Amino acid sequence: MVKISYMNGDYLDHDKAKIHIEDRSNQFSDGVYEVIEIKQSTCLNFADHMTRLSRSLKELKIDFVNEPDKIKTIILELFAKNKLANGAVYIQISRGSAPRNHAFPEHAAPFITMTILDMKPPFLADYENGIKVITYPDMRWKRRDIKTVSLLANVLAKEEAARQGAAEAVLFEDDGMITEASSSNLFIIDEQNILRTHPLNNMILGGVTRKNILNVAAKLGIKYKEEAFSKDDLFKAKEVFITSTIRHVLPVTTIDEVVVGNGKIGPLTYKLRVAYEEFLNGQVY
Ligand code: PDD
Repeated sequence: MVKISYMNGDYLDHDKAKIHIEDRSNQFSDGVYEVIEIKQSTCLNFADHMTRLSRSLKELKIDFVNEPDKIKTIILELFAKNKLANGAVYIQISRGSAPRNHAFPEHAAPFITMTILDMKPPFLADYENGIKVITYPDMRWKRRDIKTVSLLANVLAKEEAARQGAAEAVLFEDDGMITEASSSNLFIIDEQNILRTHPLNNMILGGVTRKNILNVAAKLGIKYKEEAFSKDDLFKAKEVFITSTIRHVLPVTTIDEVVVGNGKIGPLTYKLRVAYEEFLNGQVY
């Protein structure tokens, strides 16, 4: 089947969907993106993704008027054209193309593209037995709260994880504090049975899954703290898991070859995972 992608108003054969040589996303990473999961033709957590997209655009002063209803129509049309009801869509909006010059160009029109991701959800065994991660220095810039396409430090971290046979890289600052992971947020259950994750600020991406997991935790009566923790705390944690749009709640059972807990999904992670799946299913009519 020919894969169809979307470019600024046109639905094109994926192979013909080409971006301009001077598109600023290409030369300066001057663009933002979102990844949204689609289940039974429903865009999951759609309002949260649109809120974050609008914020990213505003922070970078990209002059694109985000109209969520229009975006949703395009996503569903794209899925229909690809004869799919489930999967994930990658949406990118760049500042547009203009002759190369660092400062914002006077005449550039934002350029939106969408493509369906070849989504490979983790295997069931990963949800039961957990994944292996490595720790890796966080070398990113200081505006990680903006979902920009500038992902080179994330790419290098994930590549090192892959090289070591791990599924994710957990990132730490020079002072040993953990921020998040290369393409997911990180949570621990600490020695006091408190769920902890890095607070929302410029040092992490405010994950949509992260936000909804905290809501689910509150409903389940699980105590949580949005408070940074160290590498030491990570290794002492009773349970560790990562969250993202693609991987939902995924337990971590090995960190740098050290086994977490008994090497299986922990009880609170399990509870949160089940409740989060219910929360997502509740959005599908
Ligand atoms: N990544 N932190 C980083 C650095 C991320 O790249 C992501 C998502 C997350 C989790 O965010 P959310 O829960 O909104 O998916 C946290 C996406 C999926 C990606 O780049 O493919």
